[in-house]
Amino acid sequence: MKLLVTGGAGFIGSAVVREAVRQGHAVVNLDALTYAACLDNLAEVADSPLYAFEHADIRDRAALDRIFAEHAPEAVLHLAAESHVDRSIDGPGTFIDTNVTGTYVLLEAARAYWQGNGRPEAFRFHHVSTDEVFGSLGAEGRFTETSPYAPNSPYAASKASSDHLVRAWHETYGLPVVLSNCSNNYGPYHFPEKLIPVVILNAIAGREIPVYGSGENVRDWLFVEDHARALLTVLRRGAVGRSYNIGGEAEARNIDLVRMICRLLDARRPESAPHERLIAHVADRPGHDHRYAIDPSRIRDELGWRPEVTLEEGLARTVDWYLANPEWWQALQQRDGVGRRLGTVA
Ligand SMILES: NC(=O)c1ccc[n+]([C@@H]2O[C@H](COP(=O)([O-])OP(=O)(O)OC[C@H]3O[C@@H](n4cnc5c(N)ncnc54)[C@H](O)[C@@H]3O)[C@@H](O)[C@H]2O)c1
Repeated sequence: MKLLVTGGAGFIGSAVVREAVRQGHAVVNLDALTYAACLDNLAEVADSPLYAFEHADIRDRAALDRIFAEHAPEAVLHLAAESHVDRSIDGPGTFIDTNVTGTYVLLEAARAYWQGNGRPEAFRFHHVSTDEVFGSLGAEGRFTETSPYAPNSPYAASKASSDHLVRAWHETYGLPVVLSNCSNNYGPYHFPEKLIPVVILNAIAGREIPVYGSGENVRDWLFVEDHARALLTVLRRGAVGRSYNIGGEAEARNIDLVRMICRLLDARRPESAPHERLIAHVADRPGHDHRYAIDPSRIRDELGWRPEVTLEEGLARTVDWYLANPEWWQALQQRDGVGRRLGTVA
């Protein structure tokens, strides 16, 4: 299949591009190369005849029309987005521009291309979204595909808006869409402003490991390579107009997750153990959702996908990858805002 992947130079997008090329798909990666992008993530596929790169913005309709016409993709996997909740608190405008307006412009370009080609039934527009659109859970229950939308952060609200646009383009124009909402991803190539890389890199450097609030917040962790396989499964076999929740079935309180990472580092760097001594509780994030948990029954029962990597194994692989690739993260640590506390609200 020929895929147009948006945001393929980001964390999840690059995992999807690598996995798609491994599976023999041709991939066009469309990315604006924002602060969060890193083309080094794609070194594995850069010379493959199956891979092409287009430096473009999803808000640029003329560029999108040219790319659709030139590459004639059979499907779109839409991951391009502003993705960091803390940055959305400081500057929500960029999140509305990219995640809402950008998705709208991309939908319109995809619709024109699809209609111009006689509305092929096999065409797919796969929108990649987050479980944060469902808001926050208490101690019990898990998000299903029918959970009501209740986004709490500007990031989550912008993703919820884009989900609604995608749904409407299917209902109104018949565009063959599928949607997926996933839990927190982690793994190699995770940008060094997100929780797990921050913990690993601060611990290695002997710096304070910041834990927001009490650290009681629960996240359901999904190894990024499991997610990439799930996305390609939904794209190929998901029912048109349907959404699928993708989760790792690996809930952990933030504080427990941080301690797990510290113990992995203790085993690898015993000279600086115990790394837990570096943990510091800092002011909580405003609107910090208490708990996310995904019920992945639909994708498991209907499409046969299940996560293969446990949290313990995935964290060990992630820690080892960061220890082995300092040149990758040292370069990204120089980028604007990385390493600074963001999103505290004055
Ligand atoms: N990371 C997670 O845990 C997680 C969880 C649930 C859902 N998601 C969703 O998955 C998708 C990918 O997330 P990620 O963590 O890989 O994000 P990321 O921030 O690592 O990467 C985003 C990519 O999109 C590109 N991009 C941003 N604005 C663009 C624009 N206007 N035009 C073209 N490209 C643009 C960036 O350059 C970057 O390469 C996002 O849609 C995000 O909302 C992520």
